This record gives sequence, structure tokens and C-alpha cells, in this order.
Amino acid sequence: MDTDALKRSWAQVAAHGDAVPGYFYAHLFLAHPEVRDMFPVTMAAQRDRLVRALGRMVSNVDDVGSVVGYIQDLGRDHRKFGTLGDHYPAVGASLLATLKHFLGDRWTPELADDWAAAYGLIATTMVTAAEEAESEPANWSGEVVATERRTMDVGTITIRPDTEYAYRPGQSFAVEIPQRPRQWRYLSPTHAPREDGTMTFHVQLVAGGQVSGAMLRDVQAGDRVRLGPPIGDALTLPPDEEWPNLLLVAGGTGLAPLLAVIDQVAARHADVGYGPTVALYHGVRHPWNFYARPELEKYADAQWLIMRQAVSDDPSYPGLQGPVGDVAAADGPWDGFTAMVCGSPAMVEHATAALLRSGLDAARLRSENYEHPYSQESNEPSDPASAREVIQPGAGLGN
Ligand code: HEM
Repeated sequence: MDTDALKRSWAQVAAHGDAVPGYFYAHLFLAHPEVRDMFPVTMAAQRDRLVRALGRMVSNVDDVGSVVGYIQDLGRDHRKFGTLGDHYPAVGASLLATLKHFLGDRWTPELADDWAAAYGLIATTMVTAAEEAESEPANWSGEVVATERRTMDVGTITIRPDTEYAYRPGQSFAVEIPQRPRQWRYLSPTHAPREDGTMTFHVQLVAGGQVSGAMLRDVQAGDRVRLGPPIGDALTLPPDEEWPNLLLVAGGTGLAPLLAVIDQVAARHADVGYGPTVALYHGVRHPWNFYARPELEKYADAQWLIMRQAVSDDPSYPGLQGPVGDVAAADGPWDGFTAMVCGSPAMVEHATAALLRSGLDAARLRSENYEHPYSQESNEPSDPASAREVIQPGAGLGN
């Protein structure tokens, strides 16, 4: 397989911008009207979440080994849409038709074979993982039990699933609210599983976002929601092992899954009287963006937790200033610590580079930063300095 040709041809097609998803969806919905109902009611091309992901992932098939867990997660997660194995050939055919349309006479039989083989590899990985999860529900339902506005642009939503919902601290899952049917957004519980099964999320308002405003303003107690399966393990701790000391670096609401990890560590300290030391760095743009006091105050007396807050965009702030990754790196070296970084793609990239420069071993650095649906949301612009949008996550697959 000529993977350079895949990448090159995808770059040529992607240069046609919004016309590409426009063509793809017209082809797909005409050939297979039965899949239309899986997608949001309004399918503006510039809000496309699937096509750019497809092009980018399939053309990077040579890297598939390093992201196989993510692709399996994606396959399991697609069950929430109602996606079945039979739908994959339909999407594959529309992808190939789209490539052919935009490449014109550059679309050769060899290139067509390579695209088909690469798509087949990724689709098979997704379908196999989905089939293995068949005994699990495709999605879960639940009810909103409380909402709270913390700041101008951050709030919380607490839901109670109707049936048991098992997740590990640090994981995320897609949530659909009744105000925005079929527009799923990834959120992370801010705590370890609770006895009463309720789960609380932080929601960040994103300018121009389609869903975050409704989540913050319109969702209320009593609303019915649907949830996808829990996904991701980069920000989780193995349950039965000794845990390393942790350096947690969060931008904006990227704090949510890291709070869940802290909650888990706190339980271990309470249970057995010892556990890892945790250093938490939380970065925001302006002082008024610090929204997590209620969660953090619980740990005011915890000897095992060091907390630092940094502001990136306000020179008059009397505390720590600068991008949170730089602030954390400057306090290093972090020998013996495992770092978990969570925030917008820009924040994760910056913090990762800063920590590596400061001497942190790459093998000890973890983030959900590869094209991950829950580290980014394709079409809601991100706050590059700090905000992880659960609902924000910025640039989107294929950007
Ligand atoms: C290799 C095959 C595929 C890949 C790599 C892929 C990848 C993705 C990714 C990364 C997203 C964005 C994350 C998300 O919203 O969950 C997405 C969204 C979606 N995918 Fe897939 N997908 C594939 C096949 C399919 C198939 C066969 C269907 C069913 C017809 C499907 C239906 C959807 C829908 C409905 C969305 C949400 C679209 C939106 O919210 O605008 N996908 N896909």
C-alpha cells in the first residue's frame, strides 16, 4: 500500500473545503436514506464531524498500530448512533466516490485499491470491537437531576443514569441532550463513581458552538438524556496496582477528568493511609475563569496534594502567570512522576512540549490528544489558551 499517495491525495481533496462533506453526505443519503436519521437534523458542511475524520484517519493508516485502542473505542462508541456492521460498506463507498469526484484523473485504479484496503482495515477494527461489545447496551438513558452555573461560561450538569453505568475515573463519554437531538458531545465525570450512581460534568460555553449554549442555559432537572459507552484510558489508573506520583496539568475544563483521578487517589489515601503524591496545575486565561473552587476546597487539608493555579492572559494577576504547561515545567524536574495532561489540543501540545523540554520522560506523559473525539469537537471553536471543551475540544479530526 502506498501510504504517501493516500496522504497526498487526501490533502488534495481536503483543499476543496466544505464542498467535500457536502458531496459525501449528498452521496451517502441518496444511496442510503436509511442512515440519515443517525445524523443531526441540520448537517451544515462546515460542522461536519465524520468526513474529515475519515479522510485523516484512513490516509494515516500507517500509524494505525499506535491508535488501535482509540479506533476500537470509536467502533464501540458508534453503536450509540445505531451504526451496524452493514453500514460500513455504505460509508466506504461514499468516501471512495467523493475521492474520485474531487481527484478527477488523478484517481487511478491503484489509488482506489489502496483507499479501499485502508478503509477496510479501519472499518474492520471498528466493527470487530463493536461486535465484541454486543452484550452491552448501545446507549444508556438517564435524567438530569441538577444544574449549576459556576461562572459566565462554565456550569455543571448532574445526571442519574436509569441503570448501572460503570466507568473508570478519567474516562469520558458522549452525552445527548433533548434540546439537541443526535448532536452528541463528550463529557467527563469530575469524580470517581458515586454510590448513588449520579454523575456531574463541567460544561464550558463555546462561542458559536451548537450544543454548549443549550447545555448551559436550557438543560434543566427532569430532562432526559442519552449516554454513549465510557471511552479512553490514557487518563486512568490501573485499579489494583501501586500508583506512581502524579503530575496533573489541566487547561480550563480539561480539569474534569483529572478531578476524577484525584477523587480516586483520595479514596485510596483514606482507605489504606498512603498513596501517591499528586501535583495539580490548573491553568485558565483570566482569574474569573477559576470555576472549580467547590471541588478543590475539599482537598485543602490533603498533605498528598499540591495545587497550583496559573493565569495566562492577565498581567495584573498577582499569582502564577503564563501557560500552565510552562508553569508546571518550571517547577520540575518531575523525576518519578507520571504526567497526565488534559485541555484543548493547543494546550495539550504546548504543555507536552514544555514538560518534555524540562526533562520528563516521554513514556511517563499521558494525554488523550490524538484526534480524540473527546479532546476536541470539530466545529465548536476552541479557546486555544486553556479551555478543553468537553464541549469545546477544538480543531476536530482532519483539521
Ligand atoms: C472507518 C469508518 C469510520 C470512521 C473512522 C468514523 C469516524 C468518526 C469520527 C471520528 C466521528 C466524530 C466523533 C463522534 O462524533 O463520535 C464520527 C462521527 C459520526 N459517525 Fe463515524 N466513522 C466511521 C464510520 C461510520 C459509519 C459506517 C456510520 C454510519 C452510517 C457513521 C456514523 C457517524 C455519525 C452519525 C457521526 C456523528 C456525526 C455528527 O455528529 O455530525 N460513521 N465518525
